[in-house]
Amino acid sequence: MATNRTFTMLKPDAVQNGHIGAILEKINAAGFRIVAMKMTQLSKVDAEAFYAIHSERPFFGELVEYMTSGPIVSAILEKDNAVDDFRTLIGATNPAEAAEGTIRKMYAESIAANAVHGSDSDENAAIESAFHFSGRENF
Ligand code: RTP
Ligand code: MG
Repeated sequence: MATNRTFTMLKPDAVQNGHIGAILEKINAAGFRIVAMKMTQLSKVDAEAFYAIHSERPFFGELVEYMTSGPIVSAILEKDNAVDDFRTLIGATNPAEAAEGTIRKMYAESIAANAVHGSDSDENAAIESAFHFSGRENF
């Protein structure tokens, strides 16, 4: 299914460090429309399910512990070419390798606490949006 939507989470480090406003400003300035948004805290079951694709990776335990450590802001974003353009806006997974001006370069703490999530495909954007938002919340 072709779509112009992607899914993001502002991760616990970004929320804890007071970067919600600055990151949303960059998202808006880059031309994304916020379709749905809310603050929640993931349970262990939620985080394990959301990141199930990484369950065999050595960092999985650390990832789940980190993602449940505090509130997150989840959002559905809309723009032409949303998935790819958002991945460009956030930068490389490791902030030490992220390009200048990207959200991770500016706001991430480490490869684990890297400020934001961005879907990696249209298919995963739809799956992840449905994981976090009910049909009534997603308009
Ligand atoms: P994301 O899914 O959160 O947008 O990040 P990504 O695509 O850039 O990276 P991915 O490979 O999907 O990894 C998911 C998240 O796992 C954590 N991670 N930790 N300690 C480590 O070596 C390590 N590697 C990955 C990061 O929080 C990464 O965003
Ligand atoms: Mg990923």
